[in-house]
Amino acid sequence: MILKLNHLRGETAAATQEVTAALYALLEEGQIPQDQFSRLRVHLDWIQYKQNFRDVVMAAPVDPEPGEQTAPFIDVFVDTRQVVPGATDLRATILSAIAHATSCTAPQSPGCDRLLLEDFTSFRTSIAWSFNSLYWRRLDEWEKSTGKSYEQALPGGSSDASHPDGVADSVADFWTLLQDMEKKKQLPPEIFILELGVGAGARCGLWLNKFQALDRQRGTHFYLKLRVLLGDYSLATLDMSRPAVKDHVDLCSFMVIDALNPLKTLSFLRHKILYVHSSNMYDNLPDEEFLRRDGRLYLVQVRMYLQMADARRIGATFGVQLERMRFVIGRMLEGDPDYVGYRAHGIAFWKEVYKAARLEERMTRFENLPDSPLPTVLDIAKLEDILAAAPDDLRFHVSSGALESFCNTLPLLHPRGYLQVQDIFVTSLNTYALGFHGPGKLDGSVVNWVNGALLKEVGERVGYDVHFAPFRYRTGSKTNILYTTPRD
Ligand SMILES: C[S@@+](CC[C@H](N)C(=O)[O-])C[C@H]1O[C@@H](n2cnc3c(N)ncnc32)[C@H](O)[C@@H]1O
Repeated sequence: MILKLNHLRGETAAATQEVTAALYALLEEGQIPQDQFSRLRVHLDWIQYKQNFRDVVMAAPVDPEPGEQTAPFIDVFVDTRQVVPGATDLRATILSAIAHATSCTAPQSPGCDRLLLEDFTSFRTSIAWSFNSLYWRRLDEWEKSTGKSYEQALPGGSSDASHPDGVADSVADFWTLLQDMEKKKQLPPEIFILELGVGAGARCGLWLNKFQALDRQRGTHFYLKLRVLLGDYSLATLDMSRPAVKDHVDLCSFMVIDALNPLKTLSFLRHKILYVHSSNMYDNLPDEEFLRRDGRLYLVQVRMYLQMADARRIGATFGVQLERMRFVIGRMLEGDPDYVGYRAHGIAFWKEVYKAARLEERMTRFENLPDSPLPTVLDIAKLEDILAAAPDDLRFHVSSGALESFCNTLPLLHPRGYLQVQDIFVTSLNTYALGFHGPGKLDGSVVNWVNGALLKEVGERVGYDVHFAPFRYRTGSKTNILYTTPRD
């Protein structure tokens, strides 16, 4: 058995002894046969999101080598934060996770203690993302039911994007660019800027207030030339953002834009936008994970489920029979407000289901997949090249949604323009060896760290300079700022 400790904090590694003791007891009792024991790779994780998609123990089978006689490895992940010393029955939990991983691989089999909500798929196409988009589409109803805004669910209770000093620096940088362009007679008559994934619009409002004030103070006349595009795929957030920019509304256009391909809606602005900004949105775009081990690549496939006990409890509370549960959840994800009688009941059902939702995993070899799992901007040679200096046993995000968005935004940039993204980036692939980086749940949404190292490589290969700077305005912030400009 290989034991991997992913903690950086001693106190959370306290469960290590309990986990090894449970595994040895199972081995000695013969409940885990020796052959199986030798094939276990146990990962002890300290998961940073309180709400996530993990059970205390999850076991994931790995596709066997073709023609291989012996059975393959089984990855066992233990979320040590959920282990209550002395109270969690680790032996039963480990045993049941391994039994599930080795036997319940087919669609819903009789006796399975989980209600499966989908078949195995890449995380990118999992219904987890349907929950996420439902949340943004119906944000007002969710917030009304919790009495809290989504920003209060963020670490620190507010968005780093709206930090006044950060916004002031961003305004000053942009003003300096405009001043320089004016001097060089490069300034266009209309100055286009784009905010992608506006949320409640707080940052945009603050940015415009500060820009207007600086423009007045310096006696320049840039403000009235601004054309501000606020883009989001949710009408609910676009409506919410309007009051935040009320003093500048004549300059603003509110546009339904899918951040995966802003070019589709904004192609008339190709090479015209001087400043594109987004924050906490890349971490909210569909993503998937790959595993590289012993020189081979695997796609981490997932399947969403409810523990049968949770499914029964939720069914009993909301009057939904177990057999109808999948159907009712499907209706709910399509956005039908009447899926369990009246609306408030429906919102409560949605919240309970999402809270209980878990993901199980299996590692599928690339060769065994019917289609290439690579995003269009990446081919296998490029990926191998990028991974050349990374640790051999590496599980990492592909951030395919962020990559797609990034590549479909860059062509909008004016030759002197720039893209600034504030988010939780993994800036070196080595960091993936240091533990879990999502996905987690923030209220009703999905949050996932973004593979910034991959974004940088891809951006540089298509002619852009990509830099990261730590967000220095709040101590303890995990945010980095990605800054991209077209290369000369
Ligand atoms: C976590 S909020 C961040 C809001 C704001 N930028 C902030 O930092 O507070 C994510 C925002 O991205 C939007 N979003 C998520 N996926 C999107 C997509 N594919 N296209 C456009 N907007 C998207 C959501 O509707 C939401 O407004």
